[in-house]
Amino acid sequence: MKNKYLYIQTFGCQMNVHDSEQMAALLAPGGYKVTDNVKLADLILLNTCSIREKAAQKVYSELGRLGKFKEQNPDLIIGVGGCLAQHLGAKFYKRIGHLDFVFGTHNIHRLPEIITSLQSKREKITKVDFYKTLNSIGIYAPPANGAVNAFVTIIQGCNNFCAYCVVPYLRGPEMSRPADDIIEEVKKLTDQGIKEVTLLGQNVNSYGKNLKNGLNFTGLIRKIGEIAGLERIRFTTSHPRDLSEELINCFAEERKLCEHIHLPVQSGSNRVLKLMNRGYTVDEYMEKIDHLRRVCPQISITSDIIVGFPGETERDYQETIDMMEKIRFDSAFSFKYSERKGTAAEKLAGKIDECERQQRLKYLQELQNKHMQERNAELIGSCQELLVEGRSKNSENDLMGRTRSWKIVNFKGELDSVGKLLNVTITKAYLHSLRGKLLEEAGNVN
Ligand code: 5AD
Ligand code: SF4
Repeated sequence: MKNKYLYIQTFGCQMNVHDSEQMAALLAPGGYKVTDNVKLADLILLNTCSIREKAAQKVYSELGRLGKFKEQNPDLIIGVGGCLAQHLGAKFYKRIGHLDFVFGTHNIHRLPEIITSLQSKREKITKVDFYKTLNSIGIYAPPANGAVNAFVTIIQGCNNFCAYCVVPYLRGPEMSRPADDIIEEVKKLTDQGIKEVTLLGQNVNSYGKNLKNGLNFTGLIRKIGEIAGLERIRFTTSHPRDLSEELINCFAEERKLCEHIHLPVQSGSNRVLKLMNRGYTVDEYMEKIDHLRRVCPQISITSDIIVGFPGETERDYQETIDMMEKIRFDSAFSFKYSERKGTAAEKLAGKIDECERQQRLKYLQELQNKHMQERNAELIGSCQELLVEGRSKNSENDLMGRTRSWKIVNFKGELDSVGKLLNVTITKAYLHSLRGKLLEEAGNVN
């Protein structure tokens, strides 16, 4: 079979990164090899995001740029998937005339048939139906050569309807994947050299709710923990309201569960949390943080924060800052509120102007950077277990690994330690990474 080239660009979250891996895996049997050189491409896929206006704008400008490749090569096929594709459907063609197809978040599995059809007849194809069955979630993406970690989707969709968020509209209702399928996939990945899995979902804490007599999320983690050869388990994302005591205790009990939780708080004001329809108060959130730190003192806690939500007063904002001072997150993604069509927040009064939102974000990010630097500095002199992932991005001669708490450590070491667990002493701390010195091998992971 003649080789064809697939150029795939991913916007947005880890969910999308994994969906793109699945897309590439589905197209491989049809002869498509992934390339990072767009000029070679026979097929271009953009896996899009629409969570904020900025993410959507990036997609449009990239699609505009890609138009010239189509002029040079009329056989080139260009398609869009992901959340923006789900949102716009066939309206996408009005904005971008040179698009050949649009496929939504539940239609990844239809990619091969779409491509085959386009190869015989050039007619625009749009697939944005939602299904009541899980079609795309379990597509197996074999790990890349030398990969040590992999994503595994355990639940699709979201039932929460936070006032600002488009995800429930674009990814559909929550649907958990049967535990046996997940366990089989983790075993397969482990057999192929994977040492660490990240369990993925919009709200992994809801796992199992729609399954009859199935495991809940903690049960699933415990079951995955039994898989021989697997060293580390992570998960993302958690909803604070649904974070159970059982799961918190699991951080102390399950050796393979890494000491890191991403727990988006969104705001430190009860009034704003209510407007956002988040379903918890600041005190309830803080209690969960205290509990996590009690059972697992070394846990790292990261978060998402939105500033400038409609109606957010200077005082509400200050409450967010105060909460951050109390918690001192290891890291946080922070965003200016971005109005999305069809969400409840779109109709709220009290829109905050762009300049004010920008200022609030700037100060909050400076504070977060200070906390990040301080938290990293606290690790100097400590011994950390690393899973070695590969060469460092900073230097050809260094390797990079992650601590159990999800921090990047660069250190001098031999390439044959990729995939192994090693112990290092932390010698330096930067904003986004640490420097380590090798101690000795942490354990036999083979
Ligand atoms: N505006 C700004 N940030 C948003 N997020 C989700 N929707 C919006 C929006 N409309 C942020 C939340 C979420 C993260 C993935 O993106 O903080 O946790
Ligand atoms: Fe991911 Fe949400 Fe963006 Fe969709 S809208 S790609 S789920 S971040």
